[in-house]
Amino acid sequence: MASLEDLIPTVNKLQDVMYDSGIDTLDLPILAVVGSQSSGKSSILETLVGRDFLPRGTGIVTRRPLVLQLNNIPPNSPLIEEDDNSVNSHDEVTKVSGFEAGTKPLEYKDKERNHADEWGEFLHIPGKRFYDFDDIKREIENETARIAGKDKGISKIPINLKVFSPHVLNLTLVDLPGITKVPIGEQPPDIEKQIKNLILDYIATPNCLILAVSPANVDLVNSESLKLAREVDPQGKRTIGVITKLDLMDSGTNALDILSGKMYPLKLGFVGVVNRSQQDIQLNKTVEESLDKEEDYFRKHPVYRTISTKCGTRYLAKLLNQTLLSHIRDKLPDIKTKLNTLISQTEQELARYGGVGATTNENRASLVLQLMNKFSTNFISSIDGTSSDINT
Ligand code: GDP
Ligand code: NA
Ligand code: MG
Repeated sequence: MASLEDLIPTVNKLQDVMYDSGIDTLDLPILAVVGSQSSGKSSILETLVGRDFLPRGTGIVTRRPLVLQLNNIPPNSPLIEEDDNSVNSHDEVTKVSGFEAGTKPLEYKDKERNHADEWGEFLHIPGKRFYDFDDIKREIENETARIAGKDKGISKIPINLKVFSPHVLNLTLVDLPGITKVPIGEQPPDIEKQIKNLILDYIATPNCLILAVSPANVDLVNSESLKLAREVDPQGKRTIGVITKLDLMDSGTNALDILSGKMYPLKLGFVGVVNRSQQDIQLNKTVEESLDKEEDYFRKHPVYRTISTKCGTRYLAKLLNQTLLSHIRDKLPDIKTKLNTLISQTEQELARYGGVGATTNENRASLVLQLMNKFSTNFISSIDGTSSDINT
């Protein structure tokens, strides 16, 4: 039985298969992380995953969009025994849906995380599971250099990484290059414009939720992320504000007015977080330790303790999961219409092959068709129009 929580992984699977088959994408809802360089974007993503896996360094480190699909799986998932990652089974959707049955999503609390239960997979290396997150980091670096060059070039072509873990909530996020003002090294003089255009490419579509990151130690009116978000979402309907580096504010000042929505109008509001500092990272503090430390920070803070249940990365993860789900749900009628068009296109394509021998194209097309039909009948119809429990 399909449940609302199944929606994100199922949509992801569908997107992958369609992408792989060169069929038009569904333009499905996604969350893009936007902010100036060093505002804390990568730190937020690592905290949402609970692991170190992103390249670090000075200058522009994120030089290609990283599409990060987080998939919640039960601990000791039987899937670990399977070795079936290629796009070759129309049962994938059922399997992905099966993940959810009876699992509790956000069990961040267990300090003794079993890392054998967590792995990453790249779309450009089908079938390979990365259990070592340092290897994931290296692969992102290599794959960035392969397309965007070794130095400071940027590219619009995304890297697709899936993370499977019992400790994540289902989410699909895109890490984008940071907004930068000053070209360095071999960067072209118009690097700022290039990066802004790349970001706008992603966030201009109404299907994109914008995670606008602003560091607390910079005046909000100078926030590059909010400036860009406002260009495409002037009414602040699909932008979520994240304030990082609350711990680095001048003593005697705080961000309570911003966090409680009195400073800047965003329908989805602002969430304050405290990520690991540079020093924490040098001292090899793990992301898991920093999550507990962050929770403590808000609970014990003289000002933030009044709003502490709506602060921090754990809260952010839940908010993003729920917001993305309800956004997808709102878009289901559109998705259904587009899907029906694609289904009939694919049927026509299949008819043209005329059933003479199964070519790779034919196999793929029929696979995608099966997936789309399954999604449309089993999934959309079962969720469409039913009331959701995502706000509970
Ligand atoms: P990005 O360029 O936006 O991806 O930023 P990073 O996540 O790489 O962070 C840049 C630097 O700021 C790193 O040294 C982080 O450790 C540090 N940093 C990020 N968030 C915080 C925070 O909330 N508090 C403190 N003290 N440092 C932070
Ligand atoms: Na910013
Ligand atoms: Mg970064």
